[in-house]
Amino acid sequence: MANVAVVGAQWGDEGKGKIVDWLSERADVVVRFQGGHNAGHTLVIGNQTYKLSLLPSGIVRGGKLSVIGNGVVIDPWALFAEIGRLEAQGVKVSPDNLLIAENACLILPVHGELDGYREDSKNAGGIGTTRRGIGPAYEDKVGRRAVRVSDLADAATLSRRLDALITHHDALRAGFGAPPIDRAALEAKLAEVAPRLLTFAKPVWLALEEMRAAGKRILYEGAQGTMLDIDHGTYPFVTSSNTAAGQAAVGAGVGPRAVGYVLGITKAYTTRVGGGPFPTELNDAVGQRLGERGHEFGTVTGRARRCGWFDAVMVRQAVKVGGIDGIALTKLDVLDGLDELKICVGYRLRGEVIRHFPANAGDQAAVEPVFEVLQGWSESTQGARRWADLPATAIKYVKRIEELIEAPVALLSTSPERDDTILVHDPFRD
Ligand code: IMP
Repeated sequence: MANVAVVGAQWGDEGKGKIVDWLSERADVVVRFQGGHNAGHTLVIGNQTYKLSLLPSGIVRGGKLSVIGNGVVIDPWALFAEIGRLEAQGVKVSPDNLLIAENACLILPVHGELDGYREDSKNAGGIGTTRRGIGPAYEDKVGRRAVRVSDLADAATLSRRLDALITHHDALRAGFGAPPIDRAALEAKLAEVAPRLLTFAKPVWLALEEMRAAGKRILYEGAQGTMLDIDHGTYPFVTSSNTAAGQAAVGAGVGPRAVGYVLGITKAYTTRVGGGPFPTELNDAVGQRLGERGHEFGTVTGRARRCGWFDAVMVRQAVKVGGIDGIALTKLDVLDGLDELKICVGYRLRGEVIRHFPANAGDQAAVEPVFEVLQGWSESTQGARRWADLPATAIKYVKRIEELIEAPVALLSTSPERDDTILVHDPFRD
């Protein structure tokens, strides 16, 4: 029996919510290990739709333990607002079903402000971030001036941490013409959330070790996607954490062998929100059709997602850098009714064809996709639950993707409904 990590294999929004929910029914513990409330997962269970940002997807199911690991950056105000929304939908959240790593770093209001100043500045921003303060919070973590959850229990440590953080931020804010931080107001805000946040705080690594020893099934839930990884993505148009599966271990406090099976999620086409290179992007009627049929609007910011053909070069790269064992292919039905489909199998760069996505930002922007053209299908694949329900050309498309990315399809999702899934290989039964 394997523990499973689920990661996005593109630029996020691959449909992880449904797959994670599907797997979380089979898991005892669900762990977030990176990112923050920049993520957006939509879960459709029966006639209820849940929108999650920071909380692990297991939270909506009874009898599961949800864990926010040390690799996550936590905005306590956003967390409690999310808990409030879920409670209004009848979901119970308490220290019995939610643990938060005591060594996780906080996102403070000043981080969101700085994110905004940079995005609005002509020279400093332009990444198209979610403006949630994710990048500035990770900067403070690496800069060793962040406030961590456990600091809230210790006035002297908190005060020293705020000295360092405020000195640093006031200098930055002055550069943007913003007023200095109101320390008293920040302390008062923190004092409001501290007691409640501390009730969830635990040495998460220890809890996970106990769970592992007791033979519990653990699901590590990634956010964003491999091409948004701070090291392996389309830098600088990336998020500020490692999104590849290797982060599951460090961001939760378990060893690299704790994850048995890595499931990569990928759409049958490609989308991206925010700025940055996108070689297979379609700025035409086909791109518009994918966006409309696929409801491609961000869960968090509501922004329209850019759409394009499936990029097998990029997904193969995600498979390799993330150690992906198998993929869940989502939204195949969005391609229904197209006469022909294209898959990117290489890039042309300065007259040569290359088979990997280059690291240099100039090259990333310059590559032109080399396409292979496949026949489409006119039948509906929506709601298919068996291979036999799929048209032969759709099966051919899926098989070609498997070959090109060098990873098998473990799950195929054919609608947002959780049961509209073709199971080829159960990741927990590796
Ligand atoms: P940040 O994570 O808010 O700093 O944003 C950095 C980049 O990552 C931007 O291009 C965002 O649109 C993108 N991004 C962050 N979170 C997600 C996500 O959950 N899905 C898709 N894109 C995301």
